[in-house]
Amino acid sequence: RQRRPRHRRQAARAHQGAVPHPLLRRLLPELAGVVAVEVTGGPEVPFHPGRQDKPEPPPEGRLPDATQGSDHLRQVFSTQMGLSDQDIVALSGGHTLGRCHKERSGFEGAWTANPLIFDNSYFTELLSGEKEGLLQLPTDKTLLTDPAFRPLVDKYAADEDAFFADYAEAHLKLSELGFGEAVEGCC
Ligand code: HEM
Repeated sequence: RQRRPRHRRQAARAHQGAVPHPLLRRLLPELAGVVAVEVTGGPEVPFHPGRQDKPEPPPEGRLPDATQGSDHLRQVFSTQMGLSDQDIVALSGGHTLGRCHKERSGFEGAWTANPLIFDNSYFTELLSGEKEGLLQLPTDKTLLTDPAFRPLVDKYAADEDAFFADYAEAHLKLSELGFGEAVEGCC
């Protein structure tokens, strides 16, 4: 009997629940991010499937270090990823969702009173100062003292629509990094 093409075999195994289809492994984290933002009340972020897997995972230590300041944020987001100051501040507003866990990062607590709602409260909380029960990382606080970041914090705290528009743009840029370096051959 003739053997089915490889991608068909993989798709069949994925549908049987044995192994995630490579397309799903690649698509799901991206799609989950977009859906999480939208279902928690945030902006619609365009979703462009098509990212290719890299043959190897990226080297360790490329994630931002929460104990550092604005030079470090620009090193990671601008020098390494080509993003702007506006993108850095808008993306930091992603901390409107979720919380820190002592056992993972060493930090504990949420940034906002309602960490399941995507809104501009990350910025209003940041401006209102440290509060019992809420968290501000050093990289969050640096947005207040950096002369280029601060006006954006003020803007997003005052204008949620502006935050949503800039967040959606920055999220899309972040999700499409490396799109052009696609490796030939899907699945
Ligand atoms: C600006 C540089 C950033 C730093 C230093 C940083 C740092 C951190 C740290 C330390 C945690 C806590 C991890 C834990 O203990 O579980 C965290 C969680 C989180 N970060 Fe960031 N982050 C940054 C950028 C971003 C960006 C760009 C996004 C998305 C737009 C984002 C979204 C989140 C979310 C949603 C959580 C909560 C995860 C959970 O609830 O388990 N962060 N981040």
